[in-house]
Amino acid sequence: MTGTTILTGQVLSLVRDPFAGPPEEAIRLDGAIAVTAGRIAGTGSRAELEAAHPGAQVVSCGERVILPGFVDAHVHFPQTAIVASWGKRLIDWLNTYTFPEEMRFADPAYAADVAARYLDLALDHGTTAMCSYCTIHPESVDAIFAAAEARGMAIAAGKTCMDRNAPEALRDTARSAHDDSAALIVRWHGRGRAVYAITPRFSPTSTPDQLAALGELWAANPTCLMQTHLSEQTDEIAWVKQLYPQARDYLDTYEAHGLLGARGIYGHAIHLDPREIDRLAETGASVAHCPTSNTFIGSGLCDVTGLRGRGINVGLATDTGGGSSFSMLRTMAAAYEVGQLRGTALHPAQLLWLATEGAARALNLGGQIGTLATGAWADLVALDLASTPAIAQRSARANDIWEAIFPTIMMGDDRAIAGVWVAGRRVRG
Ligand code: GUN
Ligand code: ZN
Repeated sequence: MTGTTILTGQVLSLVRDPFAGPPEEAIRLDGAIAVTAGRIAGTGSRAELEAAHPGAQVVSCGERVILPGFVDAHVHFPQTAIVASWGKRLIDWLNTYTFPEEMRFADPAYAADVAARYLDLALDHGTTAMCSYCTIHPESVDAIFAAAEARGMAIAAGKTCMDRNAPEALRDTARSAHDDSAALIVRWHGRGRAVYAITPRFSPTSTPDQLAALGELWAANPTCLMQTHLSEQTDEIAWVKQLYPQARDYLDTYEAHGLLGARGIYGHAIHLDPREIDRLAETGASVAHCPTSNTFIGSGLCDVTGLRGRGINVGLATDTGGGSSFSMLRTMAAAYEVGQLRGTALHPAQLLWLATEGAARALNLGGQIGTLATGAWADLVALDLASTPAIAQRSARANDIWEAIFPTIMMGDDRAIAGVWVAGRRVRG
């Protein structure tokens, strides 16, 4: 058979939810993975796959660990150039750094430049799919979808909607947010690998009218995602209480306007009331956990284990540029550290799950990306477990795959990304 490629290496599949049972039993290790027409045709031994795919081209990845490409459940591509901006907490950080930068995206050439730069950085770091905020400018949405399409990447994205508490140049209206988003849905949703995410930035920057208009838009387009921010900082929560005096809690500001549902992705979700946790669980909503952002902006420690224990899906996310890294390895390390500060050490299988399957499920792309299951897209990454001398000397001591991989999770960066494939096409390494 022609057209099949077999990659050999340490092929690591997460075959069970590592939060639902013993994490070390959640994996399967194979010696090879077959790729046909951009999709995974199977995993197994090299001999098994060669027998199943006679004439396949065999590409050796040596001892590298082959995983699904990382999926980033919450990122702001327009904040690429202001990553690592010093000294502010959320609201001041938005006003000082973020809003001035987002204004620049009125220029389509600038939007296209940053979109390309961001996606290239993401691929350098082994991230093959993401859910991104844009700016209020429809041109910024066109820019990221077009750049992802040119790279063959799966992406969810949407126009960020704000009609108050933002500079004049970054404000739309309830009507224009609805109509511009509706036009973008027609243009992009379901085109190739593109998914549209209806995107009210967060309750403080939307009037109740705008939230209601976007709730109606979601009801009319139920296969779209909806992404927003929830309970990131305590000052923000107090502000939401003032702005929405009749709301039972922060989540209720969304729920009351038709913005709570299974395809909703709620970024941060740190300081939750019991009712909010109940409603996230009952509705099948997803939380995007953004640990580098939560420490960088000083937001708090998300209870990932508790949320997963309630059956709430959680995807890992960089939240760049509130987050301080483009690397999902660095983000896994931060998730581990946040877990430790909460008294729960996340197992490497759990960290990898959050960065692949959990994030894919948040994007409603479970089974399609973030997995090595047969039939899924062949979006893959090959990890070098000895990418620096410090990591190499530690992994040389490893007694099992987890001890071998954990130093790369904790200390690795783009140097550990030895290969990246998007829909079966090798794009790095
Ligand atoms: N809340 C509202 N907007 C933002 C943003 O751009 N980044 C973060 N981290 N939180 C937000
Ligand atoms: Zn964010």
